[in-house]
Amino acid sequence: MAGIAGIFRRKSVEQIQAEHEHGELKRSLGALNLVLLGIGCIIGAGIFVLTGHAAAEWAGPGIVISFVITGILCGLVALCYAELASALPVSGSAYSYSYASTGELVAWIMGVLLLLEYGLAASTVAVSWSGYLLSLLADMHIAVPQVLSAAGPVKVNGVVVGHGVMNLPAMLGIAGVTALLVVGVSESATVNNIIVAIKVTVVLAFIGIGAFYVHPALWHPLIPPQVPAPPPGTPMDMGHQILRALIDILTGGSGSRYGLSGVVHGAAVIFFAYIGFEAVSTAGAESKNPGRDMPIGILGALAICTVLYIATSAVLVGIVPYARLDGPAPIATAVNYIGIGWFAVVVKIGAIAGLTSVMLVLLYGQTRIFYTMSHDGLLPSQLAVVHKRFKTPWINTIIVGLVAAGCAGFLSLDTLSEVTNVGTLAAFAIVCGTVIYLRVTHPAMKRPFRTPLFPIVPILGVIMCVMLLMSLMAVRGTRNFFIVYMAVGVAVYFSYGMWNSKLGRGIVTAPDTLAGMEAPHPDP
Ligand code: ALA
Repeated sequence: MAGIAGIFRRKSVEQIQAEHEHGELKRSLGALNLVLLGIGCIIGAGIFVLTGHAAAEWAGPGIVISFVITGILCGLVALCYAELASALPVSGSAYSYSYASTGELVAWIMGVLLLLEYGLAASTVAVSWSGYLLSLLADMHIAVPQVLSAAGPVKVNGVVVGHGVMNLPAMLGIAGVTALLVVGVSESATVNNIIVAIKVTVVLAFIGIGAFYVHPALWHPLIPPQVPAPPPGTPMDMGHQILRALIDILTGGSGSRYGLSGVVHGAAVIFFAYIGFEAVSTAGAESKNPGRDMPIGILGALAICTVLYIATSAVLVGIVPYARLDGPAPIATAVNYIGIGWFAVVVKIGAIAGLTSVMLVLLYGQTRIFYTMSHDGLLPSQLAVVHKRFKTPWINTIIVGLVAAGCAGFLSLDTLSEVTNVGTLAAFAIVCGTVIYLRVTHPAMKRPFRTPLFPIVPILGVIMCVMLLMSLMAVRGTRNFFIVYMAVGVAVYFSYGMWNSKLGRGIVTAPDTLAGMEAPHPDP
C-alpha cells in the first residue's frame, strides 16, 4: 500500500509480539536487574552537572522543588510506560508502541524524537564527562588548552574565565565508546551493576557527608525573587514573549529567571536527569517475566532516583551559594567547598565511570532504534548490516558515533541538554497519548499492568510534558532548532520512509534477526 493512506498503516500487536518471540535475545533479566539497569541509565549528567547550572541560572535553591515537579511528571509517564512495556514486551520501545497503535507516521516521528532522546543525550553526557575529566586532570596538574576544552564559554564557580572553540575530550569520549560498541563490547549486566554501585555510593556519600556542612541560611529564600531578564545568552523575541506570557499564566510568574517560572524552567532543564527510566522498557525482549518485572523495573528505578535527586540538590544548594554552581563539575565544587580534597577526587572518578556507562547505554539504544527502523524499511538497509566478525551493526554505529561526536564537540551543554529535553518531552507526551489511544481502540488487549486512575494519569502526563516543553521552547534557539529538525524529519519520511516501508510494500517483516548481536545486558 503506497500513497498517503500509508501513514496510518500499523503493525499488528500480534505481529510485533510474534517478531520478538522468534528473537533469540536471552530472557535473563529479573526485576532487580531491571531496576539496576534503569538506575544505570538515569544517574548521570543531570545530577552531576545540570543541577548546578539550573540552580544558578533559573531556580536558585528552588531547584529542590524543580526536582519534585519533574519527579511527579516522570512518575505519570512511567506508569504509562509500565502499561505499554508489560503489554508489549519488545525491544523497540516507544517506536514499536507507536507502530502498533497510531501507525507508521507517528512511529517515524517517534524515531526522529528518540534520536534526540538517545543520540543527542549521549553528546550531552559526553560534554559533562569531559567536564569531570578536565577537572580531574587539573588536580593532577595536567592542563588541556582552553580552546580545546569547551565549545563556548568556560566557567569556574559561575564566572566566565575564557572561551573555547571545541570540546576535544568529549569527542574522544564518544569515539572511544563508539569503538567499544563496534567491536561488540557492550555492557554486561554485571558491569552495569558494579557501576551503579559506584554511582549510588558516591551520591549517598555526598548526601551523608554534605548534610553536616549545610548552611540552612543558603536555602533562604527558597525561591529567589524574579529577575525580569533571562540569563545572558537567552535571546528573547516576539514568539518568546508570547510563550513566556503563557507560561507565566500557568505558573503565576512574570519573568524568566527565579520566581515560580524560573523553578518551572529549572524543572524543564533538570528533566534530563530523569531520562533513562524508560530505557528499562527497551529490555522488554530480555525480561524473564515482563508483565510483573517491567513495572517494578521502571517505577522502582524512578522512585529511588527521585529520592536521591531531591536529597542531593538540597545538600548542594545548602553548601554552595547557588550563583556559584554554574560550572562543569558542581558536585566536586561543593566537596571542595567543605574542604575534603580526597573526597572530591573520589566524586570525580565516580562521575567519570558513571557517565561513561550512561554514554554507552544511550549510544547503544540509538543504534538499536536505527537498526529496528532499518529492518522495517524506514531507513536504508545499510543501517541493519551486521559485521561478520563482531556481530554488531557497525555502519550504523559509526554513523551514530560521528554525529554524536560532532554535536559533543561543537555545541554547548545548554543547547544539547535543552534540545534533548524538548525531544524527550514530546516523545513522552506521545507515549501517554498512546496509552489512551490503545485503551479506546483495543480495550480487550491483555495488560498485565494497568495505569491506575485512567484517564487522569495519562492526561496529566500530557499536560505536564507540554508545560515543560513550552518553557523550553520559549528559548528562541531551542525552538527554531526543534521546528527545523522536525520539519526535515517529516520530509525525509515522505520522500524516503513512506516509499520503502516493508509493511507498505507488502513484505512481511522477517523475525527480528538481532540473533547473535550482543544484547545490551545479556547476563545478570
Ligand atoms: N539521565 C541521564 C543523565 O542524567 C541521561 O545523564
